[in-house]
Amino acid sequence: MIYKDSKDKIDTVKKILKVDHAGEFGAINIYRSQILVSRLFRRQFVPMLEKFLEDERKHLDIFWQEIKRREGIKCKSYYLCGIGGYFMGFMSALLGKKGVMACTWAVESTVTVHLENQLIYLQSIGDKEAYAAVNSILEDEEHHRDMGDIEGGKNVWFSPFRFIISLFTETIIRFGMR
Ligand SMILES: [Fe+2]
Ligand SMILES: [Fe+2]
Repeated sequence: MIYKDSKDKIDTVKKILKVDHAGEFGAINIYRSQILVSRLFRRQFVPMLEKFLEDERKHLDIFWQEIKRREGIKCKSYYLCGIGGYFMGFMSALLGKKGVMACTWAVESTVTVHLENQLIYLQSIGDKEAYAAVNSILEDEEHHRDMGDIEGGKNVWFSPFRFIISLFTETIIRFGMR
């Protein structure tokens, strides 16, 4: 998706910040439910997921601070992201280790592509603060994505599952940017 100047009263930067903020809440809930299920079936997996969760909480705060500083708004899809994330995380964890990793890989791949495009836009308009906020989380999200790959998230049997997750993630981002 190419990010452009918004035609309505909420500017594109505020939209980017609210969408990313809502996305972090979604990610927090994915990892929360995955941790819950993994505690029962795959305990060795929990420390990695807890580290991811900790990263997402930091990201949430970075965006919230920047939103507050500019008197921005919380996304309408904030709670939808939370519920959707929790559900996706829960389902993925029931599918086992590769399910968890397929979910991580699909979400984080979709997210990193968006972050890169957001950075292109933010650089073009010279918004240094928003650029710094988005850029500060990119490396973590790339790391989550790569761990998903390393741990088997790209397994061929999980392609339909990854497709659904990517589609949901993409749809909710576009919905928030409208
Ligand atoms: Fe994040
Ligand atoms: Fe992440």
